[in-house]
Amino acid sequence: MSRSAHPAGPRHADVLTEGHYSAPAADLNVLDEKVWARTVTRDADGALTVGGIAVARLAEEFGTPAYFLDESDFRARCRAWAEAFGPDADVFYAGKAFLSRAVVRWLKEEGLNLDVCSGGELTTALDAGMPAERIAFHGNNKTVAEIERAVEAGVGRIVLDSFQEIVRVAHIAQRHGVRQRVQIRVTVGVEAHTHEFIATAHEDQKFGIALADGQAAEAVRRALSLDGLDLVGIHSHIGSQIFDMAGFEVSARRVVQLLTEVRDEHGIELPEIDLGGGLGIAYTSEDDPREPHEIAKALSDIVTRECEAAKLRTPRISVEPGRAIVGPTAFTLYEVGTIKPLEGLRTYVSVDGGMSDNIRTALYDAEYSVALVSRTSDAEPMLVRVVGKHCESGDIVVKDAFLPADLAPGDLIAVPATGAYCRSMASNYNHALRPPVVAVRDGEARVIVRRETEEDLLRLDVG
Ligand code: LLP
Repeated sequence: MSRSAHPAGPRHADVLTEGHYSAPAADLNVLDEKVWARTVTRDADGALTVGGIAVARLAEEFGTPAYFLDESDFRARCRAWAEAFGPDADVFYAGKAFLSRAVVRWLKEEGLNLDVCSGGELTTALDAGMPAERIAFHGNNKTVAEIERAVEAGVGRIVLDSFQEIVRVAHIAQRHGVRQRVQIRVTVGVEAHTHEFIATAHEDQKFGIALADGQAAEAVRRALSLDGLDLVGIHSHIGSQIFDMAGFEVSARRVVQLLTEVRDEHGIELPEIDLGGGLGIAYTSEDDPREPHEIAKALSDIVTRECEAAKLRTPRISVEPGRAIVGPTAFTLYEVGTIKPLEGLRTYVSVDGGMSDNIRTALYDAEYSVALVSRTSDAEPMLVRVVGKHCESGDIVVKDAFLPADLAPGDLIAVPATGAYCRSMASNYNHALRPPVVAVRDGEARVIVRRETEEDLLRLDVG
């Protein structure tokens, strides 16, 4: 069925493709550590705890829906990435996954750099004290005002995304009397998705400058000719939620090939390459993500091998994981409001949030898992669809999942792995109030992004 058609009728919700689900887990009370933040466990009463605090207390103090973020897990993942890549490489956390001032401070303390892609993200980063030289500025259509601000602040690199931008950034840098460090983002003709990648000659997308037809080589020529720019490297980002390293391998090979051409034409060995982000995480028990040290080794082996073959000095590698750092560290806590068994169709479990706090299921057909977390249950598994409270039948949080058949209104259920691209893509649809993000660590919980209020809504509406 076409996703652009919204036929009315009893199966209206099937505008989404049918989900797939495996048999229920042997014991629905077991929390698979693959998908839950590291300090999540069940206490003696059977309630989920995170950072040592039980969900009932969290719900009482902070309300639902809310995102609970395991700060020690976040910090541990930052350290794992930094250690895996070592002192000769750089890890830039991709702020688009989730950014707040507290997150910026954690990144700073754990030695990570930060990739921002808008004036708003740049402001958050600078306001929370991230040194400008540790910030990379991305985007396929940065405004003049954004570029001015980035140059004035002295960001460590601007990633150039188009021919127009090469000139734009050069002019602005010159006007400020500086040489701006830049990389050029190229499209390598590789598109990677979860378990596969597709290599195509030309990529039909808005980002970067194609390697094909000598476009990227021409961009390098222009960047090198402009006084305002200090071209330090080439950037490539091939996709999201990737498990298969083969796409990165092709990407690295093609970027090194460009470095070789640049050396041969200009006698310059560009010192940096950035291989982007996109490393996958486990949303359900079926996903098998790679560990940072495996990823670091695979990328560094590929680049070293290709550079040795081309007799190039090995450039400094950087990467930009967003989801892989923050995704697994948070879960969304909801309260069950209604349960509607539709004879012969399915059972709908409605929660107090929905597509305004997690648009990914509706937008990407994303898979999630869910668990009853305020208590354990020995009841039979019941196949359900978890939906939100919005006026839209595509308002689905978890397409197909098993919850205990004694589930009742008032129970708390939680969706794990919602740290990335949930709060950052949240909306006010139906004038929903975007939920808070609460950081939990060592028995303490504190709000790092507060819940929106109706006053917030009215403040923007100037009447
Ligand atoms: N670097 C660049 C240049 C990017 O465009 C992105 C993501 C990243 C790094 C970080 O990718 P990550 O490691 O987080 O996968 N909203 C979508 C994902 C869009 C990602 C866009 N760019 C989602 O919810 O899955």
